[in-house]
Amino acid sequence: MISKPPGIEDIFPDSIEQWNYIIRTAREVFRLFNIREIIIPILEFTEVFARSIGDETDIVSKEMFTFEDRGGRSLTLRPEGTASVVRAYVENGDYNRLSSCKLFYIGPMFRAERPQKGRLRQFNQFGAELFGSAHPFSDFEAIACMDLIAKRVGIHNYTLLINSIGCTECRPKFIEKLTQYYRAHTAQLCSDCLRRLEKNPLRILDCKTETCVQLKGSAPPISEFLCQSCMVHHRELKNILVENSIAFTESPHLVRGLDYYTRTTFEFVTGEGSQNAFAAGGRYDNLVELFGGKPTPAVGFAAGIERILLLLNNQLHLNPTLDVYIVHSGDVAFIEARKLTMKLRECGISVDMEAESKGFRSQFKKADRENAQIVIIIGEEEIENAKYSVKNMISGLQETISRESIIEHVKQTIRTKK
Ligand code: HAM
Repeated sequence: MISKPPGIEDIFPDSIEQWNYIIRTAREVFRLFNIREIIIPILEFTEVFARSIGDETDIVSKEMFTFEDRGGRSLTLRPEGTASVVRAYVENGDYNRLSSCKLFYIGPMFRAERPQKGRLRQFNQFGAELFGSAHPFSDFEAIACMDLIAKRVGIHNYTLLINSIGCTECRPKFIEKLTQYYRAHTAQLCSDCLRRLEKNPLRILDCKTETCVQLKGSAPPISEFLCQSCMVHHRELKNILVENSIAFTESPHLVRGLDYYTRTTFEFVTGEGSQNAFAAGGRYDNLVELFGGKPTPAVGFAAGIERILLLLNNQLHLNPTLDVYIVHSGDVAFIEARKLTMKLRECGISVDMEAESKGFRSQFKKADRENAQIVIIIGEEEIENAKYSVKNMISGLQETISRESIIEHVKQTIRTKK
């Protein structure tokens, strides 16, 4: 048997109904916010991610699936969607000429993380990127959009964490203080953070090592260093959230694992396990320029579909149903069953049947497993009398219906059920 690589999952029909429900809900909410779909490539030049996410982040330094193509160019399986959307936005003049532009994407992302529950190497995200406005209302729209999706899919008891990590004006002062703080505590830092202290001290706040997490508790909060305009921006975002009854908790050390953020960062978390963020995002006002575009403020978020599925697993029961299952016995009945199957399908009724001669019992079992609403039985007796036995699996009622009226009868039964 050839198995799948670690951290990569198959998604079988049992969870596909929930999967599609989550995506349908997200798409519907994106429509409400006038956010339009973009399909971005799964493979990009490595530079797209290295430049934007940052060399010192875990994603770029240890988690990317990177390889050389035959021409010796370095390609990477996308670890996230933001960098690709920005690359596409800058590359396509029609879109970046628009004063504002709101895009969403859905698809697989790849990170070589240590696999565990809720942490995969191939996982799926839906996300949105809103270009063109520096106003906190735009940050609010990104947060409110994710909040509505969470509520509509039925996630309860989550917390929205927010923070501002300032801008290029005010952050250097904070980083100076942060460096001083960590220099005084190097004995408690992990080896990765000792390196980060020299190269990118902000990343220490994102470290998951126990001693580093403990140290973070007493680290200086960035809120004390924000410049006037970052402070006003953050205050205004909080006002808009309050105005619209979206509850939040301030999280003064929330920096997120990607280097491109400016000002707002946020996460939607639940109390369960260490992989507790099911969605996250923030503002990235310098990224479009970094990709060679004209300076364009932007904000966005992404959610992990598998993490949402884990949260909903015990709550959401969406059993797929089949309208009709045809049970047949004998060669003539087999032919008759095949013809009836196709006639019903042409009328828009979902039908299935066994493609080989099998016992009644095993066929009834299959009908049960497929959650069939009606079972039509065609055996020798039914052929002889030109009548079918029809069992309504919901009411348990069994009737005999003539061959001529069977399609009408099925249509009627399905219609009354719906
Ligand atoms: P992120 O926090 O790296 O942000 O990922 C967003 C979400 O993707 C996480 O909250 C989590 O639900 C899911 N996720 C991430 N890694 C894994 C994994 N290994 N296994 C399963 N699920 C995972 C971003 O990706 C940013 N691009 C978000 C953003 C958009 N910021 C601005 N715009």
